[in-house]
Amino acid sequence: MTTTEDSAVSSPRAAIAARNLRTDNWRRGPILTVLGITAWVAYATFRVFYQGDYWVADYHYLTPFYSPCVSEGCVPESAHFGRFLPDHPLIPYAALSLPFLLAFRLTCYYYRKAYYRSFWLSPPACAVPDGHPRYTGETRFPLLLQNFHRYFFYLAVAISLVNTWDAVLAFHSPDGFGLGLGNVILWANVVLLWCYTLGCHSCRHVMGGRLKHFSKHPVRYRLWTFSSALNSRHMMWAWITLASLALTDCYVMAVAAGWITDLRFIG
Ligand code: FES
Repeated sequence: MTTTEDSAVSSPRAAIAARNLRTDNWRRGPILTVLGITAWVAYATFRVFYQGDYWVADYHYLTPFYSPCVSEGCVPESAHFGRFLPDHPLIPYAALSLPFLLAFRLTCYYYRKAYYRSFWLSPPACAVPDGHPRYTGETRFPLLLQNFHRYFFYLAVAISLVNTWDAVLAFHSPDGFGLGLGNVILWANVVLLWCYTLGCHSCRHVMGGRLKHFSKHPVRYRLWTFSSALNSRHMMWAWITLASLALTDCYVMAVAAGWITDLRFIG
């Protein structure tokens, strides 16, 4: 017997000869997404396994790609939470956080849309047929695991707190307190990361989900409103934070490697 769901999945499409009826340049979005994500993943992979130029000793700048630095290979001053992982070329210095950050982004509602469309062509765009003969959505393994996003959200909050703490500790110079362009960049990145994290759909649910009457929960209503405002630009935060992460890392690497000197305002 065929259920309503099965028949919806297997129903033939309308009998039209054309592959689709869109006349706009619908391939542009998926192509740009593939290029952008591929470039970022290539850069991030190189940096994570480079295991160098991640810490500026004079100003205590630590790149977010190496935070928290928990490998025995980390410079002791950069390891704000201890060094307990073995030093091995294949173990990232921030192996404690990177897998969860990756999982958080991979299961993000926006990124799902991005890579389902761009990499899996499932479907590549609205009103364009799926690139695969069968569509099972997220009802089976491994895509069923996308449901873990709500738990990765909590871990992402913890990692954002770590990044915030790194930025606080970076107000440093050899004479004590210090402020430079690196601080501005580190803080801009942290603020943007919070905008992305607090605009998460799971965050909205944590703030305002399962309530029958917002009027009886004014604080949660305000938090939900705040999260919803961020959520309405979730795609924008998703891309801006990819850029800010890479730029912050690039700046710290350039200062740490001695390619440039940090512009100092104080100290
Ligand atoms: Fe994008 Fe949660 S939905 S981070």
